[in-house]
Amino acid sequence: MILIIDFGSQYNQLIARRVRECNVFCQIEPPGIGMDKIRALNPDGIILSGGPASVYENAGPKTDPEIFNLGIPVLGICYGLQFMIYSLGGKVNKAQKREYGFASLDIHDHSGLYHNIDKITQCWMSHGDSIESIPKGFEIDASTENTRVASCVNYEKKLYGLQFHPEVHHTPKGKEILRNFLFDICRCKPTWTMKAFAKEAIEKVRETVRDDKVILGLSGGVDSSVVALLVHKAIGDNLTCIFVDNGLLRKDEAKKLKQVLKQHLKINIRFVNAGNLFLKDLEKVTNPEKKRKIIGKVFMDVFEAEAKKIEGVKFLAQGTLYPDVIESVSAFGGPSAVIKSHHNVGGLPKKMKLKLVEPLKYLFKDEVRRLGTTLGLPEQLTWRQPFPGPGLAIRIIGNVTRQRLSILRKVDAILLEEIRQAGYYKKLWQSFAVLLPLKSVGIMGDQRTYENIVAVRAVNSIDAMTADWARLPHQVLAKISNRIINEVRGVNRVVYDISSKPPSTIEWE
Ligand code: XMP
Repeated sequence: MILIIDFGSQYNQLIARRVRECNVFCQIEPPGIGMDKIRALNPDGIILSGGPASVYENAGPKTDPEIFNLGIPVLGICYGLQFMIYSLGGKVNKAQKREYGFASLDIHDHSGLYHNIDKITQCWMSHGDSIESIPKGFEIDASTENTRVASCVNYEKKLYGLQFHPEVHHTPKGKEILRNFLFDICRCKPTWTMKAFAKEAIEKVRETVRDDKVILGLSGGVDSSVVALLVHKAIGDNLTCIFVDNGLLRKDEAKKLKQVLKQHLKINIRFVNAGNLFLKDLEKVTNPEKKRKIIGKVFMDVFEAEAKKIEGVKFLAQGTLYPDVIESVSAFGGPSAVIKSHHNVGGLPKKMKLKLVEPLKYLFKDEVRRLGTTLGLPEQLTWRQPFPGPGLAIRIIGNVTRQRLSILRKVDAILLEEIRQAGYYKKLWQSFAVLLPLKSVGIMGDQRTYENIVAVRAVNSIDAMTADWARLPHQVLAKISNRIINEVRGVNRVVYDISSKPPSTIEWE
C-alpha cells in the first residue's frame, strides 16, 4: 500500500484516485500520523501531498522528518517536495515569479521517475514558493524555464520530489510518472482490484465485529446498500438494517425501495413509517440549517427507538465515503468550515454508545458503485443518483407543507422520467427540481395565472466536492419544461440553474 500524507492540497483526492487507477491501494492520513503508525502500516511508498502553506512559516503543517530515514521511497509533490528539502537542510524561498499553469518540463535524467518519458513534456505548476538550494545527496533531474528545481532526487535514500502536479490531467505524462514511482521505485504490484478489496473488507468487518450485533441505517442509496451487502456477507443475520421513511422521499420511492431492497438484499430490514413526525416538526420552519437540524434529530430519535428493540447491538455500520472524511477533517486535524449539516446519523454512535464500522471510508463514489457491482448488487441500486438525507425538505425553499411536497413530487417524477428517456440518468451526477417560494404571472388558455416557479438542477461531478451545471440539450430542457407546466397544477414557470460548485452548492439549501 501507499501512504499519502495530506498537507491540505485541493488535489489530494486526485493523487489517491491515480494510485488506485494503477491498481495499488492507498490510504490518506494527516501529517500528525506519527512514526509508530507509519511503521505499523508498513507502506511500500509514501507520497507527501501539496498544500497551501509555506514550509518556512511556523504554522505550516509538518510531519516527522524521520520518515526520510525509513528506507521507504518517498515522493514529495509541491509543498511535499518543499517540506522534504527544507527538513533535510535545503533552502525554500518565495519565488520571484509565481508559476501557475502550464509549463514545459525539460528532463535531464531519465533513470528515476522519468523512465520512458520524452525529454520535453508538459506539466502543470501551481506554486508561490520555490527551492533555492537542494541538500547534499540530491540532484536536479528536471527544470522549467521559471523553476530550476522542477524536480529532484536522492537515489541513495530513495527520495523523490516534484514541484509540479503529476496527478492532474494537465500533466499528460503525470500518470506514467506516478506509475514509475509505484512500480519501478516502490516495487508495488498492481493487485488492488475491487474483488480483492471486497474480500479484504469483508474479512476486516468479520474480525472487528466477531459475534456482536450490528445495525445500519438503510436509505436505499448506493452507499448504504453496498455497506449492507458487504456487512451481511461478513456476519450474516447479526446485521439488522433500519429504513426510516421520513415522508420526504420522492414519488412512490418508499414503496419501490421496499420492493427492491426486499428482493435483492436478503437481509433483516425493519421499515419505519415516520413521515408524520418529521412533517409535524418541520411546520413553519424556513431556515435551511434549522430544517436540517430538525430532520437530523427526528431521524436519530426514530432510529434509536427502533434500534432499542434489537438486543445486544454493539456496532453501527455506516456508508461514510472518502469525500465525507475529508470534508469534516482538515489537513491540520481540525474541523473544516461547516457549509451544511450533512450527516444526519453523525451523532448516533455517541448517543447510543456504539462503535463504528465504516468499510467504504477510503473509497470514492464511482469506486463504491464498482464495489456494489462486484458484490452482485443490481443496477437499480448501484446506479441511483445521490439523494440527500433530508430529502425533498431541502428542495422546497421556505415552508415544507404536504401540498408543496405533492407539487414537487409530481415535478420531480416528470423530470426524472425525461432525463432517463433522454439517456442522461447515468451520465449526470444528479438531476432534480427545486420548488421556489416565489410566484410569477403566466397565461394559460387566455387566463391569467399566478403560480409557483420550479428550478431544474442537473450537474456533472466526480465526488460532489466540485460540480458543473450540465449542458443538457435544449430539446431535453424544452420537453421537461413543457411537461411540467402542462401536467403539474400550480406551476407556471420553469427555470434552469446554471451555477457551478463552488461558489454555489449542488442542493439549494
Ligand atoms: P452540496 O449541496 O453540499 O451537496 O453541494 C453535495 C452532495 O451531498 C448531497 N447532500 C446530502 N447527502 N445528507 C446526505 O446524505 C445530507 O444532509 C446532504 N446534503 C446534501 C447532495 O445531494 C450532493 O450530492
